[in-house]
Amino acid sequence: MDVLEAIYARHAVRDFAPTSVPKETVIKILTAATRAPSGGNGQPWELFVASGATMEAIRKGYVERAQGAPPRPPSPRPESTSAAQAAIRERMTAIRIERMRLLGLDPDDPEAGKMFLQMGARLWGTPVLVVVCMDQTLSANMDLGMLVQSICLAAQGHGLESLIAAGLVTHLDILRKELEIPENLNIVIGIGLGYATDHLINTYRSPRRPIEEVVRYKD
Ligand SMILES: Cc1cc2nc3c(=O)[nH]c(=O)nc-3n(C[C@H](O)[C@H](O)[C@H](O)COP(=O)(O)O)c2cc1C
Repeated sequence: MDVLEAIYARHAVRDFAPTSVPKETVIKILTAATRAPSGGNGQPWELFVASGATMEAIRKGYVERAQGAPPRPPSPRPESTSAAQAAIRERMTAIRIERMRLLGLDPDDPEAGKMFLQMGARLWGTPVLVVVCMDQTLSANMDLGMLVQSICLAAQGHGLESLIAAGLVTHLDILRKELEIPENLNIVIGIGLGYATDHLINTYRSPRRPIEEVVRYKD
């Protein structure tokens, strides 16, 4: 797969098939992705991968937590302190509403919101979870970003889809226990890897700002 094809093909998959992914494929993806650049070649990343029984133990823990959790009242949004913050919040709200409408749900109905939470609680069905960690004394988030996108693109190259999600790393204690992640490492982000189902949610494509608005080009 050509690099541009991979860039355009990658998108957030929010319903994965239960099909397992061979360990060798995951290792090939991560080997390619660790070719990502990093400041001073520091390579500050530490990766923990859950699949098979470990993945199911994590999922069970997440689902149990979701079931035991009291219903959350809608959290009041703090005021945006800048136009940039307000614009980002608007984009986040827009994709949430668009995704709910795609599924025929009413964005204002709290019951409809629950369905989204449940999908997240079962970790969107991902058969493989890559947990990206970094030593707590480091702050090289730019390097981690390089790695994360590289993982997703390498996954495309191997015929797999991905989901980058903070929601994959909500229960730090469960992840630390099941993946034996030491306390000195911060858990930064999770990436789900697997095959997409034909669920309607997977047809959603998030919009992008017009390029003329993003780029100021001067000859
Ligand atoms: C740092 C980061 C955290 C994210 N966390 C979540 C999440 O918790 N839940 C979710 O559904 N999507 C999450 N996403 C996915 C974004 O919503 C998605 O990448 C964005 O809407 C653009 O859509 P696309 O990936 O399909 O192009 C996250 C993405 C990034 C980069």
